[in-house]
Amino acid sequence: MRSIKNEKNLANKLILLRLDLNVPLDQGKISDTTRIDKILPTLNFLIRQNTKIIILSHIGRPKGKIVDELSLKPIKEDLQQKLKLKVKLIKKNIFKIKNRAFLNDFDEQILILENIRFYAEEEKNDRNFANHIASLGDIYVNDAFSCSHREHASIHQISNFLPSYSGLQLDLEVNALNKITSKITKPITCIIGGSKISTKINVIKNLIPKLNNIVIVGGMANNFIEYFGNNIGNSIKENDCKQIVKEIISLSKEKNCNLIYPEDVLVSKNLNGLSQNKKLDQISSNEMILDIGPKTISKILNIIDKSKTILWNGPAGYFENPNFANGSIKIAKKIIENNKVNKSFSVVGGGDTVSFLNHLNVVDDFNFVSTAGGAFLEYLEGKKLPGITALD
Ligand code: 3PG
Repeated sequence: MRSIKNEKNLANKLILLRLDLNVPLDQGKISDTTRIDKILPTLNFLIRQNTKIIILSHIGRPKGKIVDELSLKPIKEDLQQKLKLKVKLIKKNIFKIKNRAFLNDFDEQILILENIRFYAEEEKNDRNFANHIASLGDIYVNDAFSCSHREHASIHQISNFLPSYSGLQLDLEVNALNKITSKITKPITCIIGGSKISTKINVIKNLIPKLNNIVIVGGMANNFIEYFGNNIGNSIKENDCKQIVKEIISLSKEKNCNLIYPEDVLVSKNLNGLSQNKKLDQISSNEMILDIGPKTISKILNIIDKSKTILWNGPAGYFENPNFANGSIKIAKKIIENNKVNKSFSVVGGGDTVSFLNHLNVVDDFNFVSTAGGAFLEYLEGKKLPGITALD
């Protein structure tokens, strides 16, 4: 990979900069700015080099349609404030931007093209789309490690058309993860939670042979709870997962990897409700699972205590409602307690997980915090990420 930080003659170049500005939004307001803060060094570097910067990013999953709530406008405003520079959000349809002169004519040094996932071509890794975007710049920079597991046009295909570089934050994340994975000590425990079940369920199988313990919490745990014959009511789950759950269970036995999933849970009738502790066979059809229960927590804490390396991606519950934050809080506190006395080494990743840790003000108490969730897990799995191979 060539890093942009080693390039000298960048003045007046048009840089197409892919970032992951997929930050959590709460009623149009950014509730955690970590992903923005982390890429400021790259922007400042490019500003100092007198380049013109065209930012490409997605937010959310609009699935190829324009969704007003998923505009990059709040991010533009945050960037503007932090950089103390005027930033222009370009809402014009990308296909109607016929040439680079259109972009060059704006006085602002930083332009943001509106949510790249408003175009169906992005997720299809469409060659013409990538070629068209590439025609608007001189150089492509990927500083979106957390999206590099996606074979999408602005991550993967685009690098076929332009000199391509890694950004400063991507360098940092890849170097740190390389160092960590080459020196990892057993027993290794991986805690996987959150709500993006489809991204993660397939990764688990490949992680099993590398791990001593795998703890499944959050949305994915519901698929396991249901697999064992329990009613999960209105809880989130991934459809058609019986076969993969079966394979995960049998592979973990074969590879001697201890598989842990909830024994008890906290439920409510709605996301804003109060919590009620339930055994797995007591969940009613109008309830949803929103956190792990006390028995499960104590089992997980015991496992953390016996581990030398902890990898964690995805909260254990719906922490946005404090009634369902307890599982994640207890897990975080235990990891931090062991970290402080050098009993274990901890690596945490993912947008929601980082947002949760910021909420607790403990983000600096872990050995390494990655902005990436899905990409972090696939990297640990040993998979070649399309966004990284594209830079090779
Ligand atoms: C993330 O939040 O992990 C990245 O922005 C990728 O988002 P995605 O899972 O919607 O592709």
